[in-house]
Amino acid sequence: MPTSPVRVGVVFGGASGEHDVSIRSAATVIKGLTDPSNQQRFQVTPLYIDREGRWWPDTVANSVLQQMAALANDQLPQPLPAQGLRQLPVDPDCIDVWYPVLHGPNGEDGTVQGLFTLMQQPFVGSGVLGSAVGMDKLAMKAAFAAAGIAQVPYIGVNAADLENPQQLERLLISLEGELGYPCFVKPANLGSSVGISKVRNRDELLAGLQLAAKLDPRLVVEQGVKARELECAVLGRQHLRASVVGEVRFDADWYDYETKYTEGRSQTLIPAPLSDEVSQRIQTMAIDACRAVHAFGQARVDVFYDEADDRLWLNEINTLPGFTSQSMYPTLWEASGFPLPQLVAELVATAQE
Ligand SMILES: Nc1ncnc2c1ncn2[C@@H]1O[C@H](COP(=O)(O)OP(=O)(O)O)[C@@H](O)[C@H]1O
Ligand SMILES: [Mg+2]
Repeated sequence: MPTSPVRVGVVFGGASGEHDVSIRSAATVIKGLTDPSNQQRFQVTPLYIDREGRWWPDTVANSVLQQMAALANDQLPQPLPAQGLRQLPVDPDCIDVWYPVLHGPNGEDGTVQGLFTLMQQPFVGSGVLGSAVGMDKLAMKAAFAAAGIAQVPYIGVNAADLENPQQLERLLISLEGELGYPCFVKPANLGSSVGISKVRNRDELLAGLQLAAKLDPRLVVEQGVKARELECAVLGRQHLRASVVGEVRFDADWYDYETKYTEGRSQTLIPAPLSDEVSQRIQTMAIDACRAVHAFGQARVDVFYDEADDRLWLNEINTLPGFTSQSMYPTLWEASGFPLPQLVAELVATAQE
């Protein structure tokens, strides 16, 4: 007897700097769910959140997916409602599983996960805790440290402390003494390398701190390491599985915004050329990282590997990793024997566990 299809609400766009990437990620997710090999197991309702946080029904969502770009305010149905979520553009009883495909603040950080939790409806990916802890680099590092996972030395900074000359002087002395140069200054809550500086002396350190402080009240400063950049994808709920390990290589000093998003400036190697032993250590670290922040469903874990000293450091976890056709997360699973249609079907299944 044919079972009725699972009705999946794919929510994308979002009030975040990664709005445009989210549109491309959602297109890939929907392509997988509606692939003929899934034999109409899923009925997809796309829902669009514009840059100002308004939620729109499938009619609007489909035009965004068609043009693969955000709609300008004057292309949206008028009059525009107030910003933010005012009401759901779909009857929640017509959705079986919610599938947030939102990157960055207001989507990857536990906010939308809290909404679905209150609605008592299943959704793909981590819950409030894992999403929130995974988003904030300081909270994330504290959780990794508590779990005993190796990380590069770092110091957390309150942006407000930069305002006070005495506190600032003390801070600079401790950063220089404990971390040295080069070091990396990061806002705790962005992504895509936005607001990150690699600094080599006190003037650059000060400039880096001031730049990051404009973007976030919470900052992280990390000792710079020379290392290969490796990524591992995790999938599952009760039982977490790790993919083959991939590597990002680029012809730049570090993986900054321009290098990330300029065609041809970086390449990925899947699988990364590594011994089985090192790959396995990375896979174990990826699963440990998920457990440390209580991430599940999907996550991409990024690590630094110092080949000369055979040392690994956990860099970060992404609980809603990029999912465009070129993104590392689906590509790593493809190379691990889970083609896209099977991967998204598995992700929906983890929400229903
Ligand atoms: N401690 C570090 N040592 C060396 N390179 C670093 C360090 N921290 C960050 N980087 C470089 O900056 C990039 C972006 O940093 P990351 O913490 O991953 O931020 P984002 O969340 O924006 O991706 C990394 O991919 C790496 O190239
Ligand atoms: Mg990163």
